[in-house]
Amino acid sequence: MLKPIIIANWKLNGNKVLVNKFIKKINNDYEKYFKKSTVIISPPMIYIEYMKKFMKNLKLSFAAQNVDYNYQGAFTGEISTYMIQEIGAKYIILGHSERRKHHFENNSLIAKKFYCTKINNLIPILCIGETENEKKSGLTENILTKQIDKIFLICGKNAFHNTLIAYEPIWAIGTGNNASPILINRTLKFIKNYIIFKSENTDIKFYMQYGGSVSTENIKDIICQKNVDGVLIGSGSLNYKNFLEMIKISSKN
Ligand code: PGA
Repeated sequence: MLKPIIIANWKLNGNKVLVNKFIKKINNDYEKYFKKSTVIISPPMIYIEYMKKFMKNLKLSFAAQNVDYNYQGAFTGEISTYMIQEIGAKYIILGHSERRKHHFENNSLIAKKFYCTKINNLIPILCIGETENEKKSGLTENILTKQIDKIFLICGKNAFHNTLIAYEPIWAIGTGNNASPILINRTLKFIKNYIIFKSENTDIKFYMQYGGSVSTENIKDIICQKNVDGVLIGSGSLNYKNFLEMIKISSKN
């Protein structure tokens, strides 16, 4: 996978006007700016197929923001991995703190979703991170390992092979208060070593992202950190000019 990896998480934002704007602009800018990185766009799920259709020849990937671990049946309101595959997405964001908080997703549920994402040949982007209080109490590593351990327990030693892990401290999401590049690098190193240790496999391949108030001002210093393979951008990715600027800056590293 080409680095840097830039993931745009639109969350519950956007509409056809924004979608059409992105399609037009990306079609225009792709050759010049997008080819140097792996760009993954995660709009609300219903727009993925439409965006793909109008950006046909571009090597751009899409991520769903959620999935159910059931494949079919009486699960009103849910969407399966198969359906996500059918509309052409390649990735699924899992474990985002907003889903943990507002939709009560715990580590077990996230691990089940992770499992069915992997066995159906989609790639999980697992978000993990601690709250401000947990950070203040020195619990960051403890929280991160708990979030990771459940995935190992349900998905086995090879769980993280060919996946993306995003360290997203909750105190940094949507606050304008990003983690410092040094802290990001140190924490990603910890996560990486822990996963290699638990996998008992030094050849395991996975990618490390940072997310939380990434902006045009801080992306340069974040992306150049040794353990950072890319970033997950929330609100900063909704403004096309900003988003393109971040792609430009990060691809210069
Ligand atoms: P933010 O969101 O960039 O708006 O802080 C990041 C995220 O939630 O993934």
